[in-house]
Amino acid sequence: MTRVSFYFLFALIITVYSADENTLCTKDYCSKQDCKNANNNVPEECRIQNATHSGIFLPYPGPCNCCDYCLKNLAEGDDCTVGDVGLSPSGSVCGNALTCEELVEKEPEGTCQLISNTECTKAQFAFDEKVNNDTIGHMELREICDRRGLYGHYKCIPGENCYCRSNENKRIFGDIPYSSIANHVLNCACSATYEEVSTFLGRNLKIGEFLRCQSNGDYDTVQCIDDECFCVDAVDGALTYPSQDTVNITMISNETLPCFDYEIHKENYYNPCEKEYLDTLEAASIFEEEVDYVVFGISLPTCQLDGYYAPVQKTKDSYYCSDPEGNQLEGFKVSLNENDYTDMVKIMNCACARARSITTEQKPECLKNGNYCPMQCRRGFCRCVDENGNQIKKEISITSSEYNDYELECANMSGFSEVPEECMK
Ligand SMILES: *[C@@H]1O[C@H](CO)[C@@H](O)[C@H](O)[C@H]1NC(C)=O
Ligand SMILES: *[C@@H]1O[C@H](CO)[C@@H](O)[C@H](O)[C@H]1NC(C)=O
Ligand SMILES: *[C@@H]1O[C@H](CO)[C@@H](O)[C@H](O)[C@H]1NC(C)=O
Ligand SMILES: *[C@@H]1O[C@H](CO)[C@@H](O)[C@H](O)[C@H]1NC(C)=O
Repeated sequence: MTRVSFYFLFALIITVYSADENTLCTKDYCSKQDCKNANNNVPEECRIQNATHSGIFLPYPGPCNCCDYCLKNLAEGDDCTVGDVGLSPSGSVCGNALTCEELVEKEPEGTCQLISNTECTKAQFAFDEKVNNDTIGHMELREICDRRGLYGHYKCIPGENCYCRSNENKRIFGDIPYSSIANHVLNCACSATYEEVSTFLGRNLKIGEFLRCQSNGDYDTVQCIDDECFCVDAVDGALTYPSQDTVNITMISNETLPCFDYEIHKENYYNPCEKEYLDTLEAASIFEEEVDYVVFGISLPTCQLDGYYAPVQKTKDSYYCSDPEGNQLEGFKVSLNENDYTDMVKIMNCACARARSITTEQKPECLKNGNYCPMQCRRGFCRCVDENGNQIKKEISITSSEYNDYELECANMSGFSEVPEECMK
């Protein structure tokens, strides 16, 4: 139990415990269940899923949760019950960004009312107003808010990418090239849970303290802790085969673990960054024992949650943008001897450099630290963008008389006094 921390064990114990309770409820058991009755009664809300008729599928609240059922979304003004989601098969809840407001204080009866006071719902209202007054940009998308009115778990930049974010609209690990069906393919549960745990603890978790994620923010289906490997569900991280023995890390393959996939997994479980990290630590600790003092200044790579290299990497005298394999991206590097080193490094995120490396169409323009240039131009039109590349002001034609003012405004919105030199091409 050397590398396994308390926090990880805590998470694992919950998983194992809830699995133990139900050793009966394996995938096998569920596949034999007759879900016809439950699924035939799926209300039209869950089948239609348009702006006025929608619902959420939940596991049927019967033994083992094998079948899905539908929880209808109520519309604004519909009757509801305060304080009780009512998980009965005929249940319903106020829809997205709606909350059940009681009619009489302390009485359970209420009606569904718009949550209007969260940042996300305010952003939606602002978007709708901009559409009405014709100040909306062509790359701006209406915010997606979750049921509580908080920011939804992902955000897309048309033509570029879709990335995971926290409920506070902070970008977190996990992204995919732009997809109009991100809703179905970008769950972000692994990276969102990591974010919650590390925020709670006030520090980043080390390798081996948390389950490994996939590049899209899902859980990696193969997990190894202390050389014992097992399968988990990509979306919720729960053990897939609770009754199966774990497999020695030296023995993992598609023959021993049903979740092992040669397209994603390597026979050596560790991905390049976590391998370098663990090898460096191991070498250092051997050295430590020999000379009996702590070695400071060993240089460990920064890994992202899938065990590959994080976008920003540090060397003795520079920071550079890295691809997942650890290679520097183009010329994106800031060296200690540069005048603006401190300013550039402070805000460095390499989000633009990474986006450039996966976009095939028009590539975004980046600062030398790999951040987005505050203004991006395309087909004769320019737009202001934020640190993740989201458009934040309606685009303007390059030939417009207000172009120079616009450019300055973009720079100011990103905290620059003028447009940085490398963006002026
Ligand atoms: C959603 O679908 C229902 C049933 O087909 C239809 O009556 C309703 O008008 C649709 N709403 C929208 C906004 O398309
Ligand atoms: C359009 O609406 C937005 C959002 O409310 C507002 O900030 C902006 O000032 C409006 N612009 C004009 C020209 O009315
Ligand atoms: C895994 O297998 C290796 C090589 O067969 C062995 O040395 C090691 O002790 C095993 N580990 C565990 C946890 O059983
Ligand atoms: C494992 O992978 C090999 C080679 O990719 C393949 O030939 C074999 O059928 C696979 N075995 C199983 C159980 O999927």
